Amino acid sequence: MRIDVHFGTQLPAAGDVAGRLVVVIDVLRASTVIATALDHGARAVVPLESPDEAVTRARSFSREDVLLTGERRMLAISGFDLGNSPREFSREVVEGKSILMTTTNGTAALLAVSGARDVVVASYVNFTAVLTMLRAALRGGTDVAIVCAGSERRFSLEDAACAGRFVHHLLKGRSEAESNDAALAAALLHGRYGDNLAKLFATASHGKALAAAGFSDDLLACAAIDAHPVIPVYQDRQITKLGPERER
Ligand code: MLT
Repeated sequence: MRIDVHFGTQLPAAGDVAGRLVVVIDVLRASTVIATALDHGARAVVPLESPDEAVTRARSFSREDVLLTGERRMLAISGFDLGNSPREFSREVVEGKSILMTTTNGTAALLAVSGARDVVVASYVNFTAVLTMLRAALRGGTDVAIVCAGSERRFSLEDAACAGRFVHHLLKGRSEAESNDAALAAALLHGRYGDNLAKLFATASHGKALAAAGFSDDLLACAAIDAHPVIPVYQDRQITKLGPERER
């Protein structure tokens, strides 16, 4: 039984994710946005590589059924319906919609984990819901790989600390489980910040950049532990919420 972490400084190799339950984490802000949108009734979120690809893909939907969303350099993409602030994805705006999303790191990480048995999207806002699923998977003998989106191939403190929170809770009482050093280092980071996410985000470079760019309220939304208790599952090139309609 293995629980490994990948910090996003390089793409996970095929062997790192093959046959595993993979968790993709981009706390600031893509994972948080995905959990928020699905919890507010969005039909699906489709991660895409580029704004052009999103515009092209939108043509296969009737315009009132789809939203173009995402960011570059933290700011909304010109001509798109929404940026990447979780506060924009209210129930009134997203309910019943398909969301075509392109971001710098989060969607890139999702597109990079093909070959996994299952892929789920995690952050602090859906922590316990995803933890419950990971525990069941480990009990069933499935290995777990946690992939941090990072920040343009650089290590990101907030993603690693969130990954560490999962490792800490999954390893508790499981002496037989094995982990890579990145997982152990991530658990130490979780031990350092715990629930003090305001301090974590104020220390993290992307957290500081978002605050400087006027997105401080987004940091509060991203720090709301378990505010959106959904399990976003990425399959067939779209992310939908695990539930009765998706019963496994
Ligand atoms: C990303 O995917 O790169 C982030 O979510 C960007 C952001 O929202 O600032």
